[in-house]
Amino acid sequence: MLVGRDDLIEQFGESLDDGPGAPRRATLYTGARGVGKTFMLNAAEDEARRGGWLVISEAATPGLMDRLIRDHLPWLLAARGGSAQKRQLKGFSAPAGMGGLSWETVERYPPESGLRSMINALTEVLAKHATGLLITIDEILRKLFDDLRQIGTQFQHAFRENREVAFAGAWVY
Ligand SMILES: Nc1ncnc2c1ncn2[C@@H]1O[C@H](COP(=O)(O)OP(=O)(O)OP(=O)(O)O)[C@@H](O)[C@H]1O
Ligand SMILES: [Mg+2]
Repeated sequence: MLVGRDDLIEQFGESLDDGPGAPRRATLYTGARGVGKTFMLNAAEDEARRGGWLVISEAATPGLMDRLIRDHLPWLLAARGGSAQKRQLKGFSAPAGMGGLSWETVERYPPESGLRSMINALTEVLAKHATGLLITIDEILRKLFDDLRQIGTQFQHAFRENREVAFAGAWVY
């Protein structure tokens, strides 16, 4: 049971329905230790899944960008991409043996362009099904390390391109 937070969660859910440009599609829950930030992220994720969205649930620990572009996004793309997407996927990283995607040209791409290309490819597939992608990042500490900056920049691009994406973060202060 979520005590006293129904409105916030409902508003987050509505922002997913409202479409690109809804301000709550970029939400930062902040507060001291134990105040309920992780709880809010979980509730936001549930809300997104209820609406048919895909969810990547992460934490701001070392290797975050790597996990996104080598693990989460390739998996979602392989699961959702289908054969029509393979052409676009060439050159992205993907775990071996997944849907025929190859490692070959992976290293040529800087991480941020890999992230952008993958978000683009995935949101294009999802748009056909009228859903989107939520990425949540827990445990953001005061210091914004490079991965978070890059992820933030790529979200800005995605928002500007009216893609069906949302971000929810938990920031410990
Ligand atoms: N709205 C709520 N209703 C009921 N229980 C809650 C609510 N918010 C938080 N809790 C409970 O309070 C405890 C702390 O919440 P949570 O782990 O989400 O805090 P946090 O802000 O993420 O803490 P930390 O900064 O240490 O990660 C948990 O046991 C959680 O189940
Ligand atoms: Mg927490």
